Amino acid sequence: MRRHNVPTADYQVFRDLAPAREYLCGPAHYPLVLKADGLAAGKGVTVCPDREAALAALAECMQEERFGEAGRTVVVEEYLRGEEASVHAITDGETLFLLPTAQDHKAAFDGDTGPNTGGMGAYSPAPVVEGALLDRVVKDVLVQTLHGLRLEGVEFRGVLYAGLMLTKGGPRVLEFNVRFGDPEAEVILPRLGSDLFEVLYTAAGGRLSALPPPVVDERPCVGVVMASGGYPGSYQAGKPIEGLEAAAAVPGVSVFHAGTRRRDHELVTAGGRVLCVSALGHDFAEAAGRAYAGVEAIRFDQAHFRRDIGHRVLGAAR
Ligand code: GLY
Repeated sequence: MRRHNVPTADYQVFRDLAPAREYLCGPAHYPLVLKADGLAAGKGVTVCPDREAALAALAECMQEERFGEAGRTVVVEEYLRGEEASVHAITDGETLFLLPTAQDHKAAFDGDTGPNTGGMGAYSPAPVVEGALLDRVVKDVLVQTLHGLRLEGVEFRGVLYAGLMLTKGGPRVLEFNVRFGDPEAEVILPRLGSDLFEVLYTAAGGRLSALPPPVVDERPCVGVVMASGGYPGSYQAGKPIEGLEAAAAVPGVSVFHAGTRRRDHELVTAGGRVLCVSALGHDFAEAAGRAYAGVEAIRFDQAHFRRDIGHRVLGAAR
């Protein structure tokens, strides 16, 4: 990102303990974020409010070797303040097919509290990243990234998903994924009027410029994840699921399966995040009402879901 001017958090990379300590005790601004550079099962990122916390996190990586090889290199990043949003596009490497924006809710409990999860619900669009700001994201993040990839000889075809922090200074990339977000996909795809297969197939063939622009349903979509009790910690699987037909009969509702499986003639839970109940509505309030009507129709032992999905847009609408 730095090589190609894609806006992201300012950062320093350290491969040795002494210069890292020197930086944390000297010019560093707090709070900051300290990251093990490699894969660390989602545990390698520490938000450090002060120097003491940063030195402890550094010691974990470089002295105690808590993350093994993944912690040999440490990245110290600027702490970004703002709201997060997800912008997805499908690309053939030249042309971008922009999908509706979305925002997910990563915390396990209401009020954005509790441990981080893969996502407990989402809504689309994310009004916080519409209009001129979205144009800026397309130009400064997505187009700039494709351009950088091409310059580096990478031909990329597929989903480009930018996880953004919308700071006062403008959008900053937190992460890229080359897949759909989950549960973002469950609120983006119900709004997509274009034929998804055709878009993907055309992108794979490098002919996206031949397609008309995306057809998007103007109605918002809200998706509520139903998880196994205990998720994202340990949970029990194998709980029978009832009420799926009643949920799907609620107007505008689609039920997406994630952690489910068939056991003989019944459907049982088989994962942390079990289902996502998504609903389109004429406004966010109707979409959320329908999604929760779907959720209320579904039963399995120890089901857990947040009751405030969409609170930011619902609050703004009131
Ligand atoms: N919802 C976040 C992700 O899919 O990575």
